[in-house]
Amino acid sequence: MEDRGFDLEGRLDALVEHDLKRSLAPADRVAERGYFASPSGGELPVLDSEEALVFASNNYLGLTADKRVQDAARQAGATVGTGAGASRLVTGDTLVHQDLERLLAETKGTDRALAFSSGYAANVGTITALEPDVIFSDERNHASIVDGCRLSGAETVVYDHCDAASLRAEMADRADRADGPGADGESWLIVTDTVFSMDGTVAPLESICDVAEEFGAWVMVDEAHATGLYADGGGIVQAEGLEDRVHVQLGTLSKALASQGGYVAGSDALVELLVNEARPFVFSTGLTPMAAAAASEALHLARHSDARERLWENVAHLRDGFESMGFEVPGESQILPIVVGDREDALALEAGIRDRNVIAPAIRPPTVPEGTCRIRVAPTAAHDRNDVVACLEAFQAAGTEVGLL
Ligand SMILES: Cc1ncc(COP(=O)(O)O)c(C=O)c1O
Repeated sequence: MEDRGFDLEGRLDALVEHDLKRSLAPADRVAERGYFASPSGGELPVLDSEEALVFASNNYLGLTADKRVQDAARQAGATVGTGAGASRLVTGDTLVHQDLERLLAETKGTDRALAFSSGYAANVGTITALEPDVIFSDERNHASIVDGCRLSGAETVVYDHCDAASLRAEMADRADRADGPGADGESWLIVTDTVFSMDGTVAPLESICDVAEEFGAWVMVDEAHATGLYADGGGIVQAEGLEDRVHVQLGTLSKALASQGGYVAGSDALVELLVNEARPFVFSTGLTPMAAAAASEALHLARHSDARERLWENVAHLRDGFESMGFEVPGESQILPIVVGDREDALALEAGIRDRNVIAPAIRPPTVPEGTCRIRVAPTAAHDRNDVVACLEAFQAAGTEVGLL
């Protein structure tokens, strides 16, 4: 009989051979330090006896462990329910969802906002619902944007990372193309992350808006790694005062907002369209009320506590420390990529800091281009001065051991 099955072992062996195989390693909690278990496969995991410092979480404001956020989730679970029970359009819409959306719209300076069950769903649902003819997408945009572009069936033009001149050239080229369908009557969408999660870079938003206006295109931004961290708890759009020039502001509730879910903020018409046409919104159970309530409380704290200040102090201290050791740390955000080059060095450095009880992941292809492997260091507001010093000391010792310093 012919074999028409799938060679899964072969594919896994190839990943191992190329230093690309990843494994699950459970932690006891989501916080600035914790106990971890070795990859357990099918067995019940056993937590290691040593506590490690975690510089590898997108819990940027450290709010997953905040009692006020936990209480908000607990209370919503007890009073509203642990699950929404249905799509928002059926019976899954609650006051907790509406409250979150009101607060998000206020923070983002828009008419309205809409919560999705994940940031991934928000990107895929929004891009497909807009039905753009042409999308201009930064080459390093998140996978959920890439998947949204693919699923929308739009012609997708990729421009150079964070390069408004490249974007302009691509738009001019597309507008001039004689044998194309022509730009008249088409809808054009520019889409970009604002803070890039693996590079720490920040999109040149004002210049992108200038180019968009020149060609009559819309701008959609993904503020997943910025929401909660900038001006008044907003993102880069708020930091740069671009609310009136960006048409779609999207983000996640799962990073600084310490919860789960995604959101889109924009005009009344945009939100009404998404409520009706975004398939991951229409055909998926509403966000759990506990996640909505936790995110609301976290957003309130992002706006009205000193958490942002504490995060940015840690970022400045770490960046200074890494750079004075001689590491290259590109970007200009809270994400600190320690670029080391090849996979072996990145994996050796990851293991070296792990031996010193500091956890930060080696990032390899396909997440980043070949030859630019790195350790992604992400501090949180919950790390104290001693944690930051311990992290720097681990990198100094491991970097020397591996021969990188
Ligand atoms: C830029 C960006 N957009 C979207 C997402 C997806 O968000 P979520 O985890 O809520 O699905 C992520 C990461 O997870 C991200 O980094």
